[in-house]
Amino acid sequence: MAKQEDQFKKVVAHAKEYGYVFQSSEIYDGLSAVYDYAQNGAELKKNIREYWWKSMVQLHDNIVGIDAAIFMHPTTWKASGHVDAFSDPLIDNKDSKKRYRADVLVEDFAEKLETKAQKEIKKAEKRFGEAFDKAEFEATNPKVLKYRAEKQALLDKLGKLLEEEKLDEVKAFIEELGIACPVSGSKNWTDVRQFNLMFGTKLGASAETAMDLYLRPETAQGIFVNFANVQKTGRMKIPFGIAQTGKAFRNEIVARQFIFRMREFEQMEMQFFVRPGTQKEWYDQWKETRLKWHLSLGLGEENYRFHDHEKLAHYADAASDIEFNFPFGFKELEGIHSRTDFDLKAHEKFSGKKLQYFDPELNESYTPYVVETSIGLDRMFLAVFSNSLQEEDLGDGKTRTVLKLPAVLAPTKAAIFPLVKKDGLPEVAKQIVADLKWDFNVIYDEKDAVGKRYRRQDAAGTPFCITVDHQSLEDNTVTIRHRDTMEQKRVKIEELSAIIDQEVNMKHWLSKM
Ligand code: GAP
Repeated sequence: MAKQEDQFKKVVAHAKEYGYVFQSSEIYDGLSAVYDYAQNGAELKKNIREYWWKSMVQLHDNIVGIDAAIFMHPTTWKASGHVDAFSDPLIDNKDSKKRYRADVLVEDFAEKLETKAQKEIKKAEKRFGEAFDKAEFEATNPKVLKYRAEKQALLDKLGKLLEEEKLDEVKAFIEELGIACPVSGSKNWTDVRQFNLMFGTKLGASAETAMDLYLRPETAQGIFVNFANVQKTGRMKIPFGIAQTGKAFRNEIVARQFIFRMREFEQMEMQFFVRPGTQKEWYDQWKETRLKWHLSLGLGEENYRFHDHEKLAHYADAASDIEFNFPFGFKELEGIHSRTDFDLKAHEKFSGKKLQYFDPELNESYTPYVVETSIGLDRMFLAVFSNSLQEEDLGDGKTRTVLKLPAVLAPTKAAIFPLVKKDGLPEVAKQIVADLKWDFNVIYDEKDAVGKRYRRQDAAGTPFCITVDHQSLEDNTVTIRHRDTMEQKRVKIEELSAIIDQEVNMKHWLSKM
């Protein structure tokens, strides 16, 4: 655990030191759970967004993208259920005065049982060596089965109590489990209360006439209210999707873990409209497609797992999270939800406008069902960034810090160095920058010894360093060094563009899906 915390601290410090993420309004001591993306962070975020957009919109001829406004008519949130049901059950510890999500306290407690099961599996793995059959062990070992059954029973009970809104019993459950506040260590809890997560604001000049608005807590509703407009103007035929990326806002009470849980964040969502009755097939298909998208970035298959929901949101008939192995353990990265016809039906009812689709093949009109994929851009950023940050042992007591970002997402693709600041080498290096910058984000760097410049670019995540030396003046060749292997090759200047393109082109990465 301490090792995990250390690694996480390193991630946060590195993100600041190398110009990726800053605390918002830092000169005023910051604003809790709000962050700014710095010069490199903005590029990485833009590249992740583009990687998603290309795979969703550009590569699917039945998915189109929109950009709806953050402000929406307030009735939207009544129809969607957010006014009545978008809340967290909160509990305070009377001694530390810290506030927690009651469900998360129980879930964390239940997760400890899974940790015990994992310990048994690891022990057996060591004992049996190569002959170890993990699946068989998990299915038959009495201790593993007992821990997992206990965990499941806890989650089932929690789900039932929350569904039935028995908040006093949730408190009693926390007390019965003996859960203590991680800060004060005491079990002195307040009652559990529901707390709505939407931020309110006002539209209008005078207090009397101003209209109460909400900052959108999800981008999805901007898609639902535009369903009929997009379907008609785009002549879309079911099945089809509408995608968008954009800011969402939630007044998160338990906001911690850096950019994992923020109050202002960005989502990348896609609503896929299907024939009623076919939603299960599409749900399975989108689970598979989205996992493939993640795997295409090469962050390691072992770092992903599905978590199918027991307790479903008010709008869903099935839901699953793609969880990622963050520095603080496996947590939700993306949600895939089968949202039924709940949203379109609700908007139809509240607006009085028809939100149906005439299916020419069936010769009938119906309200489409929806399968949604919803990923937090900031969480994806954290997944990529934390997974890429590595401390490498180079032997002889030497180490290097390297940010092995997938080259396709790296903010800067190449750094171009003159070996020395004289003899015409800077001029050649600057000309290479001038030629490459039309296609790639590249930088010029002449400060410090070349070895130090390599280390700086390794830590910043730049996949290539290109060095101009005296030989370059004679034969128009340079050395190109790969960040991950540290291998250096001598190549012709005119070949640089093709070499970089081969590694950073989205086509090369997305075609792995
Ligand atoms: N439209 C469905 C929806 O919003 P969600 O599970 O509440 O579903 C989807 O959110 C994704 O948005 C999550 O999987 C997560 O990646 C991201 N997300 C949600 N709340 C967040 C927060 N406070 N900070 C950062 N990302 C968040």
